[in-house]
Amino acid sequence: MSGSQASGPRPRAMITGASAGIGLTFAERLAADGYDLVLVARRRERLEALAKRLGESHGAEVEVLVADLTEPGELLGIEQRVGAAPELDLLVNNAGFGTSGVFRDLDPDGEEREVRLNCLALLRLTRAALPPMVARGRGAVINVSSMAGFLPSPYNATYGATKAFVNSFTEALAEELRGTGVAVQALCPGFTRTEFQDVAAVDTSVIPEFAWMEPEPVVDASLAALEARDVICVPGLGNRLASWTARRLPRRLVTRLMGATQSGSYSTKGDA
Ligand SMILES: NC(=O)c1ccc[n+]([C@@H]2O[C@H](COP(=O)([O-])OP(=O)(O)OC[C@H]3O[C@@H](n4cnc5c(N)ncnc54)[C@H](OP(=O)(O)O)[C@@H]3O)[C@@H](O)[C@H]2O)c1
Repeated sequence: MSGSQASGPRPRAMITGASAGIGLTFAERLAADGYDLVLVARRRERLEALAKRLGESHGAEVEVLVADLTEPGELLGIEQRVGAAPELDLLVNNAGFGTSGVFRDLDPDGEEREVRLNCLALLRLTRAALPPMVARGRGAVINVSSMAGFLPSPYNATYGATKAFVNSFTEALAEELRGTGVAVQALCPGFTRTEFQDVAAVDTSVIPEFAWMEPEPVVDASLAALEARDVICVPGLGNRLASWTARRLPRRLVTRLMGATQSGSYSTKGDA
């Protein structure tokens, strides 16, 4: 999906959650690859500064759309843009957040917002993006999931469940899309240095240094996997080994181990 070789119009990508972390890194990498961009998030000033920088450094045309994707009316506006011209070659459903703590103590409205953003917004934007892509016989959707999607996540129960949804949804769509020329991917990073852990109120001091990745290699792995048409992308050898091993151990045992390791890593803040 590299845009740099294109001799016609520049390809165009929409990235949700482009104001920070993995989404911002997708924006930088795709602009460098020759894409024009549509950037979505709530923090306007960050998006506008990024748009200016990418326009100056890479000549990218960048639309900024400010929206809270947990709000149905604002989500609808972004859906309408997805289906309108100029058309998208790539949609990166990246916006997401996690909550942590004992589920029964967490704010139910915050848990609902988490499902709205991580699942519902992703579903609706994918639904808006696919018909024009299939009609053209090309295009791709990257759904940013997590290694947490492979296993139940005690103390991040809603988060893990939202990412399990993303994995199952994306794998099913990949089958439906076989032969259409349109690709879908579930990108499943492990611990990545972004603002995510702050938002999720996770105590990062208990996470060993070797477990972390920077967002740049995560994005590199995703785009390489997209070229290879891999449906599930787990960036980093350590993460691939961990997810391979965890999926082969008894599920109850792994859930117990996850609970034991996660129970010390949350505070009671947890909401975006
Ligand atoms: N970092 C990790 O360790 C890790 C690991 C596995 C998976 N992931 C996944 O990677 C994705 C990106 O996370 P990140 O690590 O880059 O976190 P991040 O640095 O906190 O960035 C999250 C992005 O989502 C946007 N966002 C949050 N709530 C939103 C809302 N209601 N409406 C619109 N945009 C919203 C934020 O922008 P605004 O605040 O400006 O709206 C921000 O741009 C998420 O789906 C996350 O689950 C992260």
